[in-house]
Amino acid sequence: MSESLIRRILVVDDEEAYLSVVKQLLHRMGYSCETALSAAEASEKISTDVFDLVVSDIRMKGRNGLELMRDVRSGQPHLNFIIMTGNAADYSYSEIIDAGASDFISKPFTAGELKAKIERIDKEKRILRNLSLANEALHRQVAVNTSIAELSGALMALSSVEDISRIVLKHAMQLTDSPQGFVGYLDREGRLVCPATSIAKWDTVVEPDGIVVVRRLGGMCGWVLKHRRPILTNRLKEDSCLSRMPQGHPPMVRFLGAPAQVGETMLGQVAVANAPREYTEEDLAIVQRLAAIYALRIQQRWAEEELRQTYGRLRNTLEKTIHSLGSVLEMRDPYTAGHQRRVSELACAIALEMGQPEAVVEGVRMSGLIHDIGKISVPFELLSRLGKLSEPEMSLVQQHSTSGYNILKDIEFPWPIARIVLEHHERLDGSGYPQGLKGDEILLEARIIAVADVTEAMSSHRPYRPALGMDLAFEEISKNRGTLYDPDAVDACLRLFLAKKYRFE
Ligand SMILES: [Fe+2]
Repeated sequence: MSESLIRRILVVDDEEAYLSVVKQLLHRMGYSCETALSAAEASEKISTDVFDLVVSDIRMKGRNGLELMRDVRSGQPHLNFIIMTGNAADYSYSEIIDAGASDFISKPFTAGELKAKIERIDKEKRILRNLSLANEALHRQVAVNTSIAELSGALMALSSVEDISRIVLKHAMQLTDSPQGFVGYLDREGRLVCPATSIAKWDTVVEPDGIVVVRRLGGMCGWVLKHRRPILTNRLKEDSCLSRMPQGHPPMVRFLGAPAQVGETMLGQVAVANAPREYTEEDLAIVQRLAAIYALRIQQRWAEEELRQTYGRLRNTLEKTIHSLGSVLEMRDPYTAGHQRRVSELACAIALEMGQPEAVVEGVRMSGLIHDIGKISVPFELLSRLGKLSEPEMSLVQQHSTSGYNILKDIEFPWPIARIVLEHHERLDGSGYPQGLKGDEILLEARIIAVADVTEAMSSHRPYRPALGMDLAFEEISKNRGTLYDPDAVDACLRLFLAKKYRFE
């Protein structure tokens, strides 16, 4: 049987002899007992002492037992009363219970009768207390779950490890009532980096950006990482192996730390310290849950980082390949040297000016660099011929779109480069080549390249003619805006040159 909740009892009766009999009975049952000879004396004692139960006579000089009970219970609603009655007929059972008594007992009574009543009240008190404890625990659990669910959602939106660590620490401290704590991750050298900390100011290096790095993984911090197990200690001073604090360390009373790991991979640690109350198994479960969430997010973060780096490396390789492809043509056809680079730069600027997403901007930049690659298959003599070309010769030159497509179509780029190259001489009204596509049938990237291509070509020198100049180039695209050329791309191009001082390098 669990411990009794009734230990100290106040007996109130104006008959001194009766009072001492009841007191003796209660002492023999093992209760601690005080007595009062009147309601006034009882009120006085209740206001200065702590009682678990009052056993009071009903008829007394001055205020009676029911009046005493009403007065006392208005301030202490949980103090239980057993009312003793001399003549049961004076008051009905329901009258006494309605007034707030837990029970009543008729004088004279035996020790067994009184004991049974006290034990029943005690049992009732214990049931109520357990119920209220369970209710509190439930409320706490709901609050913890809500808070952790909110945290998981917020973590996905954060990408910096610093922000991730800080928000986890905030939740850990709040949920465990801790004034101190730290959250850190292991870097490549195995150092514990704590972007979020309120205690790890000892034995640490503070980097220029304000991030704290634990220099020597000793103490509790190191123990958790080494043993891959959590620590919960409420009496740090007695715990000799863990109590060796470095000099200047803030006084530590309690510590609760859990490793942040996914499977066998150790990623960091979540720890709190010095709550004003003892840490419980419940706190341990909370910190472990937070450490698990933290570990997952950190691992995901590293994977994202690696993917970003791999993608960056791949893109560099790709870019180099595209550049060397572009220069192959220019080695053969020095007259168009720099043309592809300048078209790529202008097309990229137009796409940005149009507010296009990164994928379009990059696609335009890359395809611009090799948009004329198909000219490799056009006889050099035709490309450098002074004077007009015959119709069959012209159609041979126009083959370069299709040739370029054929060269590129089997290479897997993250952008539709082969199609952009194929369509860069198509025109909105269907007058272009090789397919005579119209309007939206032509890829947006190809429409942007077309505007940049014409503008660059007209403004620079060609073997068969001198540079026509920027003004003529602007006239060409303005005049054919919406018929040959994409109107938004034309507007963006004109804005760049006329309002934003864009120049070919
Ligand atoms: Fe071309």
